[in-house]
Amino acid sequence: MDRIRIRGGAPLNGLIPISGAKNAALPLMIASLLTEDTLELGNVPRLADISSLLRIMSNFGVDHSIAGRRPGQSSETGQTIRVTAKSIIDTCAPYELVSTMRASFWVIAPLVARFGHAKVSMPGGCAIGTRPVDLLIMALAKLGAAIEIEGGYVVATAPKGLHGAEIDFPKVTVGGTHVALMAATLAQGTTVIRNAAREPEVADLAACLIKMGAKIQGAGTSEIVVEGVSSLYGASHDVMPDRIETGTYAMAVAMTGGDLVLENTRAEYLQAALDVLGQAGAEVSSTHSGIRIRRNGNGIQAVDVTTDPFPGFPTDLQAQFMALMTRANGTSRIRETIFENRFMHVQELARLGAHIRLDGDSAYVDGVPTLKGAPVMATDLRASVSLVIAGLVAEGETTINRVYHLDRGFEALEAKLARCGAEIERVRG
Ligand code: UD1
Repeated sequence: MDRIRIRGGAPLNGLIPISGAKNAALPLMIASLLTEDTLELGNVPRLADISSLLRIMSNFGVDHSIAGRRPGQSSETGQTIRVTAKSIIDTCAPYELVSTMRASFWVIAPLVARFGHAKVSMPGGCAIGTRPVDLLIMALAKLGAAIEIEGGYVVATAPKGLHGAEIDFPKVTVGGTHVALMAATLAQGTTVIRNAAREPEVADLAACLIKMGAKIQGAGTSEIVVEGVSSLYGASHDVMPDRIETGTYAMAVAMTGGDLVLENTRAEYLQAALDVLGQAGAEVSSTHSGIRIRRNGNGIQAVDVTTDPFPGFPTDLQAQFMALMTRANGTSRIRETIFENRFMHVQELARLGAHIRLDGDSAYVDGVPTLKGAPVMATDLRASVSLVIAGLVAEGETTINRVYHLDRGFEALEAKLARCGAEIERVRG
């Protein structure tokens, strides 16, 4: 297995192009199942999760093509994927495939909405908390799908199609909102989704669905209204920038010091995190095509943070922020309210010399003057990249094992950091 080797101490200076968002690309690809026409998606990141989803969809009989690189494009330019779900031969997503990535469970929504039948394995994905799918199933049941659980599979049927419904989510769920939104586009009548997730990825999915002929209002707010249509058509859409990748590199330069421009991204997608970085001592400004983050020799200040659904501080940046706080002046309290058990990075950060105490849903991080390089092991996607951030300032060498987690969610990570001065390389296993 590949490893990432980092020699800490170098500041980050230069420009990092931000990739398309994994968490937007996945639901957008899944939305292609709603139409027999071709959906063309631009700015799709080159990531293991994207390939896994394409594999699952190929199993259904979906055709896809990936456009090669054009003159002038670097390997960091997103790819264009054309997906056509004309004739589906199978509406079953098996355990072996779905267990590698939780978001693939969402295929259940377009399959049952368009074909009246779907059989999808209960999902896997990052081992963060129990991550149930009860609310996704609730939404489909409200829309008129009959649901049965058989041997680890969820079977959803609606031979006469779905109908509009009022869906009140008792808890904000991104996946639940994606599922309800996709299914409602082809349901007969009006659907109202309340307490909907306001994440920008939901708005991006809705923007693409609207191009495909869906009638949707309010995406990006907590109440979405969908007027069902009888069919959708093909469209062309560019995936939004990855706000988690943006925030990760912003935390990295706050950690190492230096001056980074993050290109092709927008501050409004992660304002809460940028505000916190400002309080911690980084200088954040918007440029015409992205965000500039600087930190000079001054230290990092401890800041308390609580994760929340958008527009709050994202849980997907919690581990990275904790890495930053390991070097802060003072103690910061980091509260995780979205997922229980999302503190697996704590013991690995401790191996690098961090002082962190866990108490229920909170981590108390006492900043230390130095971290020391060590071999560490990544346990999930965001935890892995927090170890990279810590390794960038740790004295000596840090080796991060199990890099496949990073490959699921960060495109060309070592190349992007190395170009800005980091001493980082991949060691092929
Ligand atoms: C998505 C993101 C993930 C991010 C998370 C929260 C993708 C591919 N993944 O995950 O990176 O960390 O949003 O921002 O976009 N819940 C239930 N029942 C359900 C569904 C969810 O109780 O049926 C709970 C979860 O356990 C969790 C909370 O709701 O406590 C939020 O989860 P959700 O927003 O659904 O996360 P995902 O969509 O899986």
